[in-house]
Amino acid sequence: MPNSIQFPLLLLLSLVPVILCQESIVPAIRVVRLQIDYENADISSVQKINKWNSIMRNSVMASLRFINKHWLICGEEEDEKSPIDCGKAQVTGDIVNDHHYQINVTFISGRDPVKNAKVEATSTVFAVSQIGLKGGIFQYTNALKVLGKPSGTLKFDEAFFCYRGQSLVEGDKCRKLFVGRRLRDSEWPANDMDEERTRNVEHNPIRLGTLIAL
Ligand SMILES: *[C@@H]1O[C@H](CO)[C@@H](O)[C@H](O)[C@H]1NC(C)=O
Repeated sequence: MPNSIQFPLLLLLSLVPVILCQESIVPAIRVVRLQIDYENADISSVQKINKWNSIMRNSVMASLRFINKHWLICGEEEDEKSPIDCGKAQVTGDIVNDHHYQINVTFISGRDPVKNAKVEATSTVFAVSQIGLKGGIFQYTNALKVLGKPSGTLKFDEAFFCYRGQSLVEGDKCRKLFVGRRLRDSEWPANDMDEERTRNVEHNPIRLGTLIAL
């Protein structure tokens, strides 16, 4: 009788060091959303502009890239630099009412403090974006002039996410969970094996494509 209990216990104990050795903690992916309100927008003109959505998106992307030339606010995906799309930025715009237009920008951002690209200085994504807003950066191209002056305060949200096979800990960190090695060139998002591994994870990681569409 004792033997039948001892065996699984020994097996379990022998596995513990393996699990601990494989565990590591990395910073979570930070996704931020900037919300800009134009409460004196010329909505009837907006509605007359051909391909407004793509013009508006391109303009906002240009604004982000301009900020990122000075302050490194755009984050990057694992093993991949993406300066052109500023952390896979998604831009949405909506007519709130006949004089109010709203733009949301969601992107993978750098972690605070973010660095200045040229001099030794740091700031935060919020501070840099807020200063940019006041400085007219979100009207970088003439096309956006029809929106009028934006409200003075930027609405800012952030959330932290982990890749599959990791779980969110301490609010903004990811713990790698799986035991065993992962092929270097394994495809991401993960395959069914990862699905199996992550089934019992408390905070199930969200696919990047999904979280960017928040
Ligand atoms: C911006 O995000 C807020 C909060 O999720 C949402 O309520 C609003 O509809 C969004 N606006 C646009 C233009 O996407």
